[in-house]
Amino acid sequence: MKTEFQSSAHPFSLVIFGASGSLARLKLFPALYELEAEARLKHDYQIFGFGRSAMTDTEFRDFFEKSVREHVEHVDEQALTKILTKIHYFQGDYDAPADYKKLEKSLKYKPIAYLSVPPVTFSSIFKGLSGPRWKLVIEKPFGSDLKSAQKLQRELKKYFKEQQIFLLDHYLGKEAVSNLLALRYANSILTDLLHKDFVANIQISALENKDIEGRASYFDQVGILRDMVQSHLLQILAYFTMHAPLQETAAAIQHEKTRLLKMVKIDPKSVIRGQYQGYATEKGIAKNSMTETYAALKVSLNHPNWKGVPIYIRSGKALKQKWTSVVVEFKPRGAQRRGKVEPNRLVIDLQPNEKIEFHLLTKLGGKLFDFHPLTTGRPIYCSGDCLSEHGRLLLSALEGKKDLFLGFDEIMASWRVLDPIQKVCTLFGKNRCKPVIYKKGSLGPKDNFKWFNPKDL
Ligand SMILES: NC(=O)c1ccc[n+]([C@@H]2O[C@H](COP(=O)([O-])OP(=O)(O)OC[C@H]3O[C@@H](n4cnc5c(N)ncnc54)[C@H](OP(=O)(O)O)[C@@H]3O)[C@@H](O)[C@H]2O)c1
Repeated sequence: MKTEFQSSAHPFSLVIFGASGSLARLKLFPALYELEAEARLKHDYQIFGFGRSAMTDTEFRDFFEKSVREHVEHVDEQALTKILTKIHYFQGDYDAPADYKKLEKSLKYKPIAYLSVPPVTFSSIFKGLSGPRWKLVIEKPFGSDLKSAQKLQRELKKYFKEQQIFLLDHYLGKEAVSNLLALRYANSILTDLLHKDFVANIQISALENKDIEGRASYFDQVGILRDMVQSHLLQILAYFTMHAPLQETAAAIQHEKTRLLKMVKIDPKSVIRGQYQGYATEKGIAKNSMTETYAALKVSLNHPNWKGVPIYIRSGKALKQKWTSVVVEFKPRGAQRRGKVEPNRLVIDLQPNEKIEFHLLTKLGGKLFDFHPLTTGRPIYCSGDCLSEHGRLLLSALEGKKDLFLGFDEIMASWRVLDPIQKVCTLFGKNRCKPVIYKKGSLGPKDNFKWFNPKDL
């Protein structure tokens, strides 16, 4: 696969809805500054913050500048000064049609809207922006189950054509995640080895050491299954197990991901739910909250290459360490079958230390015929024309490229996987989904799944 140097092809007017919020401050402003500093914005542009909060242009520029200085290590003063001249604020009501009309009058170029707002405001914004001029970037999670996602899709389609809509999962902006597919198909030994004949199991982990960090109103409604598994981790699973797309187009990539996601099978009763100690007494969380902050599950794929291979998925908050990874454990052969030697593993560390390790075994030299682990490892952190995940995604959206965005079909296929888990409480009684309490700083509740944990985990 070729790496392309991207640069925005046209002048644009970007409107960030919810510009006073945490996503804008933590991710979007630093990413926009990065695009300017890395000379990726070749044409003129405008950036508008839109929200109910009262702010003048100057106050909003100060807010933007503060966010950049807080999140960027070495600020290029010239780039920052330049981007600040392009920034404006528009105070408006999400459900006031007149405010959208007024806003449109200030936009000089082709408009693109970034919905950095809670989903309750989506309908009003769709209605306010309706028409063929706009491009729309919408953050995951898209809906809260299959039914609500389909309703949202119908609503969007009332006002916009599919090519105007960019459905964002920020994991797809991570170079290490895109690399999963490239690795398999650029290396013939992996293309052959990653198959049911050789693979004992696959383990996908996204462990966080941080707790919900005050995001009670968002997290308690969503839980870890919807927040992490429905999109991020099923996307990783799809990239790692799907067929190579026939072409490098967004449609071909989305088609293969959808095909794979439709083959995911799960026993909803096998899902382990956990909640870290103290979650229910945090500010904004109901005392009897059943929201899971940890989940572990086993899925299988009804795919000729993967039939019978268990795939374990886990994700949680307030755990011992941050670690996002894909681990492939190979089937034991020869000495591995007879003795106590470890199986071979391929360990792909996606964050925080992007690296790939192959775990092999070697004999200790001399008289002893004793096996010892031999780990070959190499960092895979991005070393080309790299951008942060939101920088990469924003630039792709500005250029109208959709290969790093989700398609509606794959989102619906993911909800079809998750929905039966969500319905377990209704079908089998509330006790079924009562989370097991686990200690902060632990590895979450015990389960019968097979996990490889690095020594420092
Ligand atoms: N933060 C993240 O890291 C993250 C990660 C993945 C996905 N997301 C998604 O990105 C979107 C934005 O996230 P966020 O964390 O920035 O959200 P947020 O801080 O809760 O809200 C962003 C802004 O939306 C406006 N808003 C409009 N209606 C609102 C309402 N009913 N309640 C609260 N705020 C309302 C507020 O601005 P005004 O009052 O000025 O209008 C607020 O500052 C959400 O859809 C979220 O699911 C966020």
